Order: sequence, then structure tokens, then C-alpha cells
Amino acid sequence: MACTDNPNNNITTYSEADLINKKVDSLIKIMTLKEKIGQMNQYNGFWDVTGPVPDEGDAEKKYEHLKNGLVGSMLSVRGTKAVRAVQKIAVEESRLGIPLIIGFDVIHGYKTLSPIPLAEAASWDLEAIEKSAQVAAAEASAVGINWTFAPMVDISRDPRWGRVMEGAGEDPFLGSKIAVARVKGFQGDDLSAVNTIAACAKHFAAYGFSEAGKEYNTVDIGSSTLHNVALPPFKAAVDAGVKTLMNAFNEYDGVPSTGNEYLLRDILKDEWNFKGFVISDWASIKELVVWGYAKDKKDAAKMAVLAGSDMDMESHIYISELEQLVKDGIIEESIIDDAVSRILTVKFELGLFDDPYRYCDETREKEVVNSQKHMDAVLDMAKKSIVLLKNENDLLPLKKEGQNIALIGALANEKNSPLGSWRIASKDNTAISVLEGMQNYKGNNLVYKKGADVSVGDTQFVNELTINTTDKSEFKDAINAAKKADVVVMVLGEHGFQSGEARSRTDINLPGVQQDLLEEVYKVNKNIVLVLNNGRPLSINWADNHIPAILETWQLGTQAGHAVAQVLYGDYNPSGKLPMTFPRNVGQIPIYYNHKNTGRPVSDTNNPNLVFWSHYSDVENTPLYPFGHGLSYTSFKYENLVLEKTVFGMDENIHVSVDVSNTGKVTGKEVVQLYIRDLVASTTRPVKELKGFELIELQTGETKTVKFVLNKASLGFYNNQGRFIIESGEFEIFIGGSSYTTLNSRFELK
Ligand code: GLC
Repeated sequence: MACTDNPNNNITTYSEADLINKKVDSLIKIMTLKEKIGQMNQYNGFWDVTGPVPDEGDAEKKYEHLKNGLVGSMLSVRGTKAVRAVQKIAVEESRLGIPLIIGFDVIHGYKTLSPIPLAEAASWDLEAIEKSAQVAAAEASAVGINWTFAPMVDISRDPRWGRVMEGAGEDPFLGSKIAVARVKGFQGDDLSAVNTIAACAKHFAAYGFSEAGKEYNTVDIGSSTLHNVALPPFKAAVDAGVKTLMNAFNEYDGVPSTGNEYLLRDILKDEWNFKGFVISDWASIKELVVWGYAKDKKDAAKMAVLAGSDMDMESHIYISELEQLVKDGIIEESIIDDAVSRILTVKFELGLFDDPYRYCDETREKEVVNSQKHMDAVLDMAKKSIVLLKNENDLLPLKKEGQNIALIGALANEKNSPLGSWRIASKDNTAISVLEGMQNYKGNNLVYKKGADVSVGDTQFVNELTINTTDKSEFKDAINAAKKADVVVMVLGEHGFQSGEARSRTDINLPGVQQDLLEEVYKVNKNIVLVLNNGRPLSINWADNHIPAILETWQLGTQAGHAVAQVLYGDYNPSGKLPMTFPRNVGQIPIYYNHKNTGRPVSDTNNPNLVFWSHYSDVENTPLYPFGHGLSYTSFKYENLVLEKTVFGMDENIHVSVDVSNTGKVTGKEVVQLYIRDLVASTTRPVKELKGFELIELQTGETKTVKFVLNKASLGFYNNQGRFIIESGEFEIFIGGSSYTTLNSRFELK
């Protein structure tokens, strides 16, 4: 409702936003420069605030700053009591009593964990993903948190990079839809509600293109890839009203993101008109010096604040350098006022000024955290995230009785790894293991054997893991169990801390001795179901060539084992589709579906004389599993791709439909995917681009006509000056159950 003058009784009414703007403006007017800069300063939780202030480290300084209103936000403060304690210091001991905004990495749940975000993306179920974020927000907000550093929306084509587990895969269209679903799930319709929290789209920008998949490495991509691939999910999040963004550790085009005015001001705050605030990543302002971009802390503070980084996470640089920079006339105070106004606006919208303790409610904490409703929601999400990669001779689903089943693999009995590497608030060992899930099905004779450890020794969050590459002492036990089994279920893959931040790998095969274990078991029993537990695509070529059934089950969170068991036994028919390409080997990376045609594309590969084309000579030049791939316990047929006409005007909607039938024996869900190809354009375009999808459910024998509407926005692209353009010309349309679909048609845009 806008601000209006009511002619009858000359009462002026203000919108909620106007009122908040007025409150922010009047508050800024009475703040000292120091207090303003304090709002731009974020500290990590540094002690159990319900206890004495520790004398080591910088806790004393942080405590003093808290008391003097020189801290705007805290992160990683755990639990209602601790949040209430820090909030009390900030609100009741400082001059103006401005409440803290409390941030936390609630990436895929607080205590009740949903699947890792890459797994959730494999569901293509936007409703379930939004619900999953609502559950995370409900639990986080019940323990004092009002801001999460999620969704991570970094597009990546490189499974060597450990953080692919945290994003939505390789495609900007799917990534954008998921970004919106997660922002809406976290923020809801009312940010001041006690069960919603501010979201943070991160890491702005292009962090997922870290060179060679090496963590914190340089990023060197062209403007066309930046605008057409890396930025769209951020733009979608901003258009969906995300309240904050976090900038990235990497540089873009030689300028570190934290100090990159082109990204933060030209694109984000000017072109996109973003009204929220930008937080740096952990100490990324200080790292401007390490990059060799700033000569010292003072220089770093100047570059970051001028570029548009509004809040400093744990560099302690804004609080130490900005005041003098303003006093010396190097930084206009208006720059500080803009940053502070953005930060205060979000605090008002969260309702923190009305009641700074509104998120600190021990009763609600007990009611909400780990509730059955949340357990049900994350189980539903987990089942929908599972992808059936292969199922020869319908080995799956398993019979529910009369079978001897050998369950093998350390990860089958793991209650930790399924929580993933971003479980930081959850309790270790609280996942349902696959063994526990399968023990729910009493009709078979189930024997479990570990076979081999994945890692050895202590697996702390901060230490590198020691992977077991030698100990095969328990192989024999496992092999003997396999010999007696009708079916062998092997749960193999990565330890929960082999993916995630700072977990890049150069080898994406099954880690350690697991491949040997798989091959040894295969020698005595070929009826193997391979269940993958992993945080990234793995190059499982041997398995694809030999193992009849393969399920991709990622790291599915708290209810992992129940989800896997229900899919194994057919109580849930798998419906997931890959959000990221699986390479045949690490040498193929980056390999992704929406690649360019090049001037020498693969054509007649049966012609032995054909040498000079874009290919590798030592591997099949296709991925192991393509983007969008995923099977079902039933089968689907696509036919009658219909375009209402073949020539469209620039402003016309393009209606497309296709008939999809369930030709199998059970009800199943299918993600119907629509891709386009712009055949000729002023900058080269990919051979396929996802521009629509619909998740449908079909009973046996049922046919549905699925309809899509494309418009010029679907057909446009950013040219290499970063301008969005639409060009007339020929387009191809493809519709099917994966990016490998060939069902196609053509139209012309005039
Ligand atoms: C980390 C991550 C970022 C996270 C932040 C706070 O380094 O890069 O995603 O939100 O620090 O934990």
C-alpha cells in the first residue's frame, strides 16, 4: 500500500516500508560515526556468554565493543540462552540499544537436517525444497537465529570443487528456480514472523568457477558466462526479495569480489536495484591485502566499502579503519550511512526493534526443534532427492520377504556422514543409517558387514581426513556374506567431510579401498545394488559397466536411512533427476550439458579417419550420466511434441505441448524437461538450454498433455557487454526426461 493523501480528512497514510525508512533515517541522525561503523561489524560467537568472559584471544575486545554498541551482528552463537545473553549486552548496556542480527550457516537445516542442497536440487520439486527451507527457518528462529547464510546459489560445472554439495548444480535455470524456492522458504511472506529468517544469497559472484575446482582459487571466466550462467540465480534471488547477499572469496576478472564495484554496485545495487545489504565472507576484506589488491588494512577497508561491501565478517577492519578514513575525507560519510541504513532496515523488518528477544523463546525451542512434523518433512525431501541411475533386469525394487540380503559398506552403518559437512548445528551421529532403515523391513534375512572403513582416525570438522587406502582386513567377512546372499546392497562413497568447503579432490573415484571391495564382492555375487553416498558427482565407470542397479543417494540428512530403504523396497518410486553431469573421469572436467557446439563438434564418430574434431582420444566423449538423467521403477513415453505454429512474433507467447504416458507397471513421477537451442546468434549459444520443467505423476497407463509457454524472456541472452538481448532467428525445442532427449521441433522468431 503506497503512501497516500486522503482528501476527505487530510490524513496521510504511510506504507510499512515508508515507516521503516523514517525510523532508520531518524535513528541514523542520532548515531555517532563510531556507532554507525559498529553496525557494519560482525563478530563470531566467541565464548559461552552465560559464563565468564575468557581472557584469552580477542574475547575481551569483542565484549567491550558489544557493550559500547560497536557490533552490528554476531554469527555462530548457539542456542537461545547464548543469543539472549549477547543480545542483552548489546541492547541493555549500549547507548542506543540497537539489537544484533544473529546469523548462522543454516545450510540445509538446523538440528533436523534435510538432504544436502545438491541432493535437494535432484528432486526438481520446488514445493518440497521451499518446505525444507521453512523447516530450517522454523528451527533456527526458535533458537534465536534470525539470519541464515543460505541459499548458496553458486553454479558449478566442476565436481572436484567440494562446495558443489552446497549448491543446485550446473544449470542457471534450475538454479534460479531453486534459489527462489529457498529464499521464499526461509523468509516467508512476513519477515517479522517468529518462524521466518532473513536469507543470504551467496557467494557473489562466480565462486563455483574456481579454477581447476581448487578451493579459494582464482576465477577467470568471460562476461558471457558470468551473465548467462553465474549471475541468473542471484538475480532471481534478488527479484524474490532476498534480504542479504554474501560476497565471494574469489576474484572476478582480476578484481576480488569483496572489492569489486562492478559486481556489487554497478550490477547488484544499481542495475538490479538491490535494497538489502552485502556481508563479506569470513575475513574476505582482510584478504584483499593477501590477494595483493590492497596494500594494507586501511586500503582494504576503503576498497571494500567503496565497492559496496556493507558488513565486515570477522576481519575487524571496518571497526578499526573506517572512522579515520571518514575523518580524513577519504570516505564520504554518506557511504557509511547507506550501508548502515541497509543493515538497520533489515533489523526493523525482522521486528528486532519491537522485541530484540522475540526469537529467544525456550518454550518454542523445545516444541519446534526435532519435531515429528520436521522429521516427516525431511524424510519426504530425502526420498524425492534419490536418483535411480541404473536398474538392469528390474533388480530394484527388492523383494520384501524370503530373501537373503547382504548389506556391505562402512557407510551403510554411518549415522554421521549422511548429515553432510554443513551440519554444524546438528548433533553428530543423529542420522538414521541405511542399516537401521533396512532393519525396518523384517521379511528378509539381513546380514551387515562393514567390508572396509572409508576413513581412519578422528574425523574432526577442521582436520583433513585420513582415508583408508590399505586396510582390507574385513573384506573376507563381507565376501563370505555376499556368497550366501540373493542380493547384495553395497553402500559406498564419500565420508561426510570429503566434500564441502575446503574439500576439493583431484580424484573423483570411489575413495580408498572401496572400489577393490566392490570388485571383490562382484566376483562372488553379481546381484549387486550400489547405493552411493556422496557430496559430488563421482566417476563410477567400472560400476556402470558391471553393477546392475545404482542409486544416487547423496547425503540425505537426518532421515537418510528410512528414505533409502523405502526406495530400495519400492515404497517410494524414485523420481530424482541429476542436477549435475557425472563425468567418466576427472580428465573430462568441466563437462556439462549446456556446452557450445564449437567449430568442430563430434559428428560421425564411427569414421576412423576422423581425427580433427573436438574430442579426447582416450575416452568416450560423452558423460557417464548426463544432466537431467534419472530412471524410475516404471517407464515413460514422450510423443506428439506440438507447437501451435512455426513462426512467432517477438512479443508473442510460444505455446508448446507434449504427451507423456506411463507405460510401466507402477505409478511414477517424471520431471518433464524443456530445452531450447538458439541456432544462430550474435554470440555463440549452447547446444541446449533448460527453459522449463514440470514434475508430474502418472498412474499406470495414464497419459498427460504437458504444456509450456515460452516468451521472449526465455529466448533472450546476455551478450558479452552484459546486455540482455533478444534476436530473431531459428530455434530448436527439445522435450524429454533428460538433457539427452532427441524429441524436437523447430520454430522461427521474427
Ligand atoms: C565460510 C563460508 C561461508 C560461510 C561463512 C560463515 O568461510 O565461505 O559460506 O557462510 O564462512 O561460516
